[in-house]
Amino acid sequence: MTTATQYDVLERANSHELRDRLRDKVLRLKRERNAYIVAHNYQNYEVQEVADILGDSLALSKAAIGVGADVIVFCGVDFMAESAKILNPEKTVILPVREADCPMALMANAERVRAAKAQYPDAAVVCYVNSSAEVKAESDIACTSANAVQVVKSLPHKRVLFVPDKNLGHYVQRFCPEKEIILWQGFCTTHIRVTAKDVLDTKAKHPGAPFIAHPECPPEVIDLADHVCSTSGFGPYIQRSSARTFIIGTEVGMIYKLKKDHPDRRFIMPTEQFVCQTMKMTTLGWVAHALETLEHKIEIPEPVRSRAEQCLRRMMAVTHDHPNAVIASY
Ligand code: 13P
Ligand code: SF4
Repeated sequence: MTTATQYDVLERANSHELRDRLRDKVLRLKRERNAYIVAHNYQNYEVQEVADILGDSLALSKAAIGVGADVIVFCGVDFMAESAKILNPEKTVILPVREADCPMALMANAERVRAAKAQYPDAAVVCYVNSSAEVKAESDIACTSANAVQVVKSLPHKRVLFVPDKNLGHYVQRFCPEKEIILWQGFCTTHIRVTAKDVLDTKAKHPGAPFIAHPECPPEVIDLADHVCSTSGFGPYIQRSSARTFIIGTEVGMIYKLKKDHPDRRFIMPTEQFVCQTMKMTTLGWVAHALETLEHKIEIPEPVRSRAEQCLRRMMAVTHDHPNAVIASY
């Protein structure tokens, strides 16, 4: 049996033949295991190509519900695979690389959220889906970057404790002047790397090119955006626009699908730093390894899982108009 380490070494040789062999192997194992491969928009392109479904975090959480497969292989980061397990406790949910975590999600934990709740007893706790199952279990409702404003507006509370992304919380505050949003001091270690200067310099080089930003970017970068949206919003905005060139304010993995869907448009990154290291850990070799060994299984103990499920289901109950994930062609 080929080990994961051997796959990884071989992959680094970047051979097309090897990639094709690995892809065939993944597709064969997927059928044998009755598995369903879910991939986030930031995944490596060869992983996107073997996925049954590709989307943003909200679309993928919804897509995982009621899937007919026995095994869900989640190509993304740990909180996403956890959400799939929370919503599908009877299924085997696999995260191919155990170390693929989200640094922002690690900036909050249940103990600190409980302490904050004691400090602000009248506040509703809204957790960004980029958080652990334990943090979700402590929260009233979850949100994603696609529905954060809708979720906060749906609450009767005046005060909202927003965990963990201060930048998304700041963005929500712009649309909810009637609320007092208490910001947790977490942030995305990838989206904070883009500066207002990067955007201004890129705009100067490409006059007229709209800048589309993910709301995890810092406020001074959001101020320069022509459009702000989750990873599922980039494609529809580009489709509607008459512009030929776009400045992409999110992780570089987005570019693959944008180029595929819009071959007549040009996409420019404002910085080379827009790479989420942990999203990029999942390679085709690791997907093959996951299907072969069923490693690494996500387990969430009760009652954390059922409390986290309530938090996710409340979010889904107030979100009806989100685009679905894209069904891949395999
Ligand atoms: P989306 O919900 O927009 O896909 O974002 C997830 C994420 O981790 C962005 O950094
Ligand atoms: Fe987490 Fe940022 Fe990576 Fe998204 S891009 S998974 S928020 S570190």
